[in-house]
Amino acid sequence: MRKKTRLIRTTALAQRLFVCAVAVAIAPLAFGQSSSGSRPDERVVRERVDALLKQMTLEEKIGQLSQLFDFGEVKKIDEAVVGGHVGSLLFVTDPAEINRFQHLAVDKTRVHIPLIFGFDVIHGFRTIFPVPIAMAASWDPATVTTAQSIAAKEARAVGIGWAFAPMLDIARDPRWGRIVEGAGEDPYLGSAIAAAQVRGFQGDYIGSPDHILACMKHFAGYGAAEGGRDYDASYIPASQMYNVYLPPFHAAVKAGIGSAMSAYMDLNDVPATGNHWLLHDVLRDQWNFTGFVVSDANSVKSLEKHHYAKDLSDAAVRAFNAGVNMEMAIDFTAYSRNLAAAVQNGQITVQQIEAADRPILEMKVRLGLFEHPYVDEARSQRILASPEHRTAARIAAERSAVLLRNEGGLLPLKKSAYTNIAVIGPLADSQLDTLGSWAFQQDLKETVTILSGLRDKLGPQAKLTYASGVQIYRKFRSFFDDIFKLKPAVPWTAEQAKAEMSKAVNLASSSDLTILVLGEAQNMSGEAASRESLDLPGRQEQLLEAVAATRKPIVLVLLNGRPLNIKWAAQHIPAILEVWYPGTQGGNAVANLLFGDAVPGGKLPITWPRDVGQIPINYAHNTTQSPEEQGKRYWDEESTPLYPFGYGGKHRDVPSGRSRPALRTSAVWQRFASGARAQGF
Ligand code: BGC
Repeated sequence: MRKKTRLIRTTALAQRLFVCAVAVAIAPLAFGQSSSGSRPDERVVRERVDALLKQMTLEEKIGQLSQLFDFGEVKKIDEAVVGGHVGSLLFVTDPAEINRFQHLAVDKTRVHIPLIFGFDVIHGFRTIFPVPIAMAASWDPATVTTAQSIAAKEARAVGIGWAFAPMLDIARDPRWGRIVEGAGEDPYLGSAIAAAQVRGFQGDYIGSPDHILACMKHFAGYGAAEGGRDYDASYIPASQMYNVYLPPFHAAVKAGIGSAMSAYMDLNDVPATGNHWLLHDVLRDQWNFTGFVVSDANSVKSLEKHHYAKDLSDAAVRAFNAGVNMEMAIDFTAYSRNLAAAVQNGQITVQQIEAADRPILEMKVRLGLFEHPYVDEARSQRILASPEHRTAARIAAERSAVLLRNEGGLLPLKKSAYTNIAVIGPLADSQLDTLGSWAFQQDLKETVTILSGLRDKLGPQAKLTYASGVQIYRKFRSFFDDIFKLKPAVPWTAEQAKAEMSKAVNLASSSDLTILVLGEAQNMSGEAASRESLDLPGRQEQLLEAVAATRKPIVLVLLNGRPLNIKWAAQHIPAILEVWYPGTQGGNAVANLLFGDAVPGGKLPITWPRDVGQIPINYAHNTTQSPEEQGKRYWDEESTPLYPFGYGGKHRDVPSGRSRPALRTSAVWQRFASGARAQGF
């Protein structure tokens, strides 16, 4: 201990000289490694980190273990950066600001270690792809890899080196809002999509040009929250943990993922962020993970609130000893305030601090941040504007849409057959709701709503009318509403509500086709967006039934991140197309799908219940007693799903004279389907 302390106390001048000497000596070795497109030499990476660690003070070492949000308190963050108290920032997305912060870290600190900027690049950065559950519905790893590599390229162009994705939580309870962020209920599909995302974000190796570090989250068991209530505890038996919840994470580790995020909730009574079994025994000992673990936002400090730690210092030590390398926090980290004292009083050792630093510094080296800490702002604008990215987003939306019903072959629609179309529903012309949650950097102006996509498709000769019909909003505000600066909804008066509903129904009855766009607003799905019901929010069900009563042809297009109760629609509405939240190009994709210029390529990655009372319901379950009675487990409703896992049809025909778009059936689907058949599904 004492020897270490003495080593650390070299004089300031000697330290500075040593830093410069090391920088000069090793820079040429590493220079251009990532930009030249060759895999970093691991021996060089290790030696470089050894050299850095040798000259860092304990305070500087602890600084690398802290990550802070940039929520606008710039002065405070500047001080933390210059003081060497922070190794990473998140939520900085402006390349000029990233360069400014990076200059502070590189020019104004003693050891010149660049920051790594993290961000929630979940389903795109500027070009927003369909939400993750939709991407999983494509059953197509190639489409998923393409999407995440475009997201990585855009993020990297502005200086972001680290995505807090993929989210790999298996979710079997659609009340849980974050089901939209994952690949659904199945560990096999979840694992294939996990590996595809890692490839997309990181490329062939960490440090591949135009790629970024990925972070698998939320480790682990978050999707099993009791009652589907976000952040509530999970209780998962070992057999389910190993067979269901862990496989996608293991797949990501095997695919070479460089970081992991610990989850918020208690797993079997031990908070995931203080869970040595998860973060050490499983992750490092069983799986040989060599990357680093970051906590979820404030989840180290929360150990106190979970009554797992007696105070912040105890929380810091418990998380650290469990295996959390870096603490993500708003304002300040428990690590920055407590780990030095924990070293002094022998609760943890300097060697442990160095071991925690090592994978973080290695990632910074591999990513080439020491050689290329700054971004070219002009180049970033060119990359963000790329038209190829928008095309890829449209194709992804087409491949992830699921045709739930097509009675009488109403779809695809023939342009010539309908000249007066009513588009109805509160989501049909809302840009934000076309994108879904976790979209912050999009350009709303370029987001194509379903109404505008249809307008473009049909041109001026068709009459297209629009009415929202009803209003939808949350009973309790979401904290994301503040981030988006959304004003609280002003509910319509009873008279207004009646007038709007009548307007919509009148439009439907005077048109020759109605396209109803219903579902959930983007803030109704995602983090802190759990529900106790799966009904269409607001008076959408009444709107649906009133429009259906006009007896005109109707297509129902669903925008949502979870299965909803559409029992009535499934019997009465001839065509139902699930498009999830389809992203930047959503409207163009939907127009192509409805008019036969694209085939809905998706199949459900989750079982679709008839209503909320059936939860949990998933295909892979033990049949146990009387399996032949499986569909009659309830006396008041069938206990089978409305639509089973893997369900998804396709357009029967493409109007004559047009080339038929190829229906892609992915290899993952084929392997799954043959395995499922072999098991008697
Ligand atoms: C979420 C994470 C996210 C983090 C940073 C947390 O609230 O649970 O998924 O990556 O915030 O935005």
